[in-house]
Amino acid sequence: MASRTSRDVLGRGLGVLRQAIREQPRIFTVAVVGSVLFGSMVIVSAYVVGGVVGDVVVPAIARGEVATGSLVLAATALFGISVLRVVGIFGRRLGAGYMQYRLQAAYRRRVTRRYLDLPLSWHHRNATGTLLSNANSDVEAAWYPIAPLPFAVGTLVMLVGAIVSLFATDWALALVGLAVFPALFTLNVVYSRRMAPRQARAQRLRAEVSGIAHESFDGALVVKTMGREAQETARFAGRAGELRDALIAVGRLRGVFDPLLETLPSLGTLAVLVVGAFRLRQGAISVTELVSVAFLFTVLAFPVRAIGWVLAELPRSVAGWDRVRRVLDATGEMPYGQRVLDPATPGPATLTFTDVHFSYPPAEAHQPGAQVLGEVGFTVPAGRTVALVGPTGAGKSTIASLAVRLVDPDTGVVTLNGVDMRELTAASLAGTVALVAQVPFVFDDTVRANIALDRPGIDDEDVWAALRLAEADGFVAALPDGLDTMVGERGTSLSGGQRQRLTLARALAGRPRLLVLDDATSAVDPRVEAAILAGLRSSAGAPGVPAASILVVAYRRATIALADEVIYVEQGRVIARGTHTELLATVPGYVDLVTAYEQAEVDRAQERPYEDEVAPLPSGLEIEVDR
Ligand SMILES: Nc1ncnc2c1ncn2[C@@H]1O[C@H](COP(=O)(O)OP(=O)(O)OP(=O)(O)O)[C@@H](O)[C@H]1O
Ligand SMILES: [Mg+2]
Repeated sequence: MASRTSRDVLGRGLGVLRQAIREQPRIFTVAVVGSVLFGSMVIVSAYVVGGVVGDVVVPAIARGEVATGSLVLAATALFGISVLRVVGIFGRRLGAGYMQYRLQAAYRRRVTRRYLDLPLSWHHRNATGTLLSNANSDVEAAWYPIAPLPFAVGTLVMLVGAIVSLFATDWALALVGLAVFPALFTLNVVYSRRMAPRQARAQRLRAEVSGIAHESFDGALVVKTMGREAQETARFAGRAGELRDALIAVGRLRGVFDPLLETLPSLGTLAVLVVGAFRLRQGAISVTELVSVAFLFTVLAFPVRAIGWVLAELPRSVAGWDRVRRVLDATGEMPYGQRVLDPATPGPATLTFTDVHFSYPPAEAHQPGAQVLGEVGFTVPAGRTVALVGPTGAGKSTIASLAVRLVDPDTGVVTLNGVDMRELTAASLAGTVALVAQVPFVFDDTVRANIALDRPGIDDEDVWAALRLAEADGFVAALPDGLDTMVGERGTSLSGGQRQRLTLARALAGRPRLLVLDDATSAVDPRVEAAILAGLRSSAGAPGVPAASILVVAYRRATIALADEVIYVEQGRVIARGTHTELLATVPGYVDLVTAYEQAEVDRAQERPYEDEVAPLPSGLEIEVDR
């Protein structure tokens, strides 16, 4: 079984190497030519050195005179060989480096491109950490053997050349070579086989150690406030100890095999000298030939190891390749249609859900997915604001995802102005709808870049207009560098409410015709939240302001009261719809929810006042808020 799997790995590893050569044939050729040039020069140099000893040194010792002509000739030859060797090494190294890093870059691009094409459902099933390591260390691991590959290929050619030249010299010496080189090769293979699992274990532990470190620093707040420092330290120390042991195991193996790999060629040289001296006395070979062959044995030992390096990297490469392929071969990207939504008549769009059913894909492929939405139907008329209200887990975020086509319904249809969303082009969809998600995401960039996102036609004036609408112009103007302020990783330099308003401004800057707010202002003072929504509604259509239909997931009375209609959902079904006042009068669950939430707000405000500035309520709002 074990040998079958390792043969399997060898076969598939060679497949990965073939793929690499197919993708970068020219650079590979350059590298291999360099390597073969180097290998040939190694063999030639052995014969030149042999020649110098036989034709210059021996006569000099015997007769006490130096054959200057031969010496100059040999020196020139050795110099020429050295130059060619340098050229060979240069070509090989450069080619191998280019090939490896080009492949890495190409596959990183392909993998990340694929992430963006794959649907949200795929992302739900795959952890962020995995995606990171797919694009990073798995791509790297897949192409690790590329670095020594040209050297190994050149070495194979060189070994064949060496055996042939040995046979041309003397059959007895050739037999020694036939015994030593395969033994060296086998020893390398055994070494690599033994090393591979130890290296893999060390690699895995390295990732785990840094994972633990990352987690405990990331969760430093929890660790500290919960008094978990000692446990976290112990957890880290435990894994770090395992890593130490794994690395020592690697070192121990190296300690055994490295001397063996060094010794074997020396033993070969010794055998050559013994056999050679015998053959010399028989008159079968000359001193020149004997020295050449002995020298050849010493210089061949190192290149043979390159073959071992490639073999050692193959298991890791295959594992990395499998994980990369899993991403590249993943299917299910959303097909887009050909239609553009009413380019001639821009303005708020009508959103309609008709008998929509939706289930998330199951965690295990063979299980059925649990249905999250059933028979959902409602309309957000053009230019109107509809609030989506329901207890936690009711399916509000799922409806929001469907409304901007992050996911498609299992059955039923979601339309914009009567057009099935699936028929729209990607660009038309992106230009028409905008979602401000429950969890805001801010890029580690300037405020301006976070809002404009490099979309064409959004200048500073548009950015400010969007910020004003999102009630964010005040705090942005107060930032040290205004729009040029860097907000830090994930917007760490901003408060939660400020982050939310930046992402809202980002959505508004694109002038969507349908705006979906998924609890997008939960961290903002309730009065600011209401002011934002009131502003969006009242100023719709003014210059620089999107005239959008709005679907808003909300809890707060003040916010809900601003909506033209409220849709109340429970357990994935629309339970009731009507105005806020109507629902308060007729739906007990709705009353409970809104009241409970309000009480929580009061408690929270007493415990910790909102950190965000409080904007004055728009006039006329107080009356509605009370009911
Ligand atoms: N990626 C997912 N995979 C599987 N099930 C999911 C996924 N996301 C949500 N669900 C399930 O779907 C149901 C609806 O979730 P959803 O996020 O739409 O609720 P919600 O109304 O937005 O809740 P909340 O008010 O807490 O944000 C829940 O039962 C939830 O467990
Ligand atoms: Mg939600």
